[in-house]
Amino acid sequence: MLKSKVIAIANQKGGVGKTTTAINLASALGILEKKVLLIDADPQANASSGLGFENNKTKNLLNIFNEECDIHHQIVQTHSPNLDIIPGTIKLAELEINNSSKNVYKLKNAIDDIKSNYDYIIIDCSPSLGYISINSFVASDSILIPVQCEYLAMEGLNKLLQTIKDIKANFNNNLEIEGLLITMYDQRLKHNNDIIKQLKNYFEDMVFKTIIKRNISLSEAPSFGTNIFEYKIESEGSNNYLNLSREIITNHNTMGKTDIILGKTIQQVLENNETIALEKSKHKKHLHHFEPFDIKKKNYNKLKGMHKKEIINSLGLVYNDIYSDIWMYRVPGRATVFRKNYLYLYFVDNRVKTFELRRFKRS
Ligand SMILES: Nc1ncnc2c1ncn2[C@@H]1O[C@H](COP(=O)(O)OP(=O)(O)O)[C@@H](O)[C@H]1O
Ligand SMILES: [Mg+2]
Repeated sequence: MLKSKVIAIANQKGGVGKTTTAINLASALGILEKKVLLIDADPQANASSGLGFENNKTKNLLNIFNEECDIHHQIVQTHSPNLDIIPGTIKLAELEINNSSKNVYKLKNAIDDIKSNYDYIIIDCSPSLGYISINSFVASDSILIPVQCEYLAMEGLNKLLQTIKDIKANFNNNLEIEGLLITMYDQRLKHNNDIIKQLKNYFEDMVFKTIIKRNISLSEAPSFGTNIFEYKIESEGSNNYLNLSREIITNHNTMGKTDIILGKTIQQVLENNETIALEKSKHKKHLHHFEPFDIKKKNYNKLKGMHKKEIINSLGLVYNDIYSDIWMYRVPGRATVFRKNYLYLYFVDNRVKTFELRRFKRS
């Protein structure tokens, strides 16, 4: 029989799809007849409320940290097949701030007592790399990193990978990267494809073959207190998360074959720190003569010839990737509920060559 596996879902960037992935991956594994436990390790407790558990005062993750409490008593059965949960609570935030205990093995020790009852234990981490997340990483066999397609995808990854490396070196020698999961992909947006190309180029085998598309049903399901499978089984989101769970099961079954490659890739990434994230501050000093551009004034011609650094300083980088030669920005004002307007900037040699306005219907 295969050993059970603990997977933490982490990225200290908020809103990248951690909780959506935790809920729907855990549920999908359960539907595929694996025994699954979902642990909500985020004080916001969105994974708990997303499965219909609001403010569970008696059974929650905090008890495991606070007293010598039995982890068995914190587990609740969900309505989804083969899926149990240890709910989160807002009080976990106090633990994050006030904890005097430096015991990074607390969660691991508790999980060891129940690990053999499950095939998969999925931990939904908070965006901080604090005490609870460190405990989660120490308790895990691997870390799944959701990466949102619409934002500067690699921002902050350095810090996360460095933390993972430190934990691997000091507390948990077996820790691996489960993979980078591209989320909220929109094939209509050219820059989404550029980001995917770049991520695959850089991280190679670390990127999951499954890509999670932007799908409105995925964002609606939690408000009904349930997963995508109960809410809308025929949706694209449901299909994507079932595929992800199959990919994870396959990887688990062939474990050992990919470990070496993944380890190497992490090392390369960490050695090439500089090439991942752009420090904005480094470029500020070149901008003395620059007049900020106001996108609301719509005098886009002024942007022609501007350097990427000037564009970042003026319009920010939110949707874009510094390596791409096509950037996009939302144009405020004329958008309606159904349509959004985007300004595309085309760069040649890091300077704006042309621009284009495009409109998209919302999905
Ligand atoms: N694939 C997706 N398509 C559409 N909306 C999504 C998708 N994944 C996540 N969302 C929405 O994006 C927001 C942030 O996702 P969430 O999973 O809560 O991120 P995190 O846990 O990383 O903060 C939520 O409103 C969620 O419903
Ligand atoms: Mg979350």
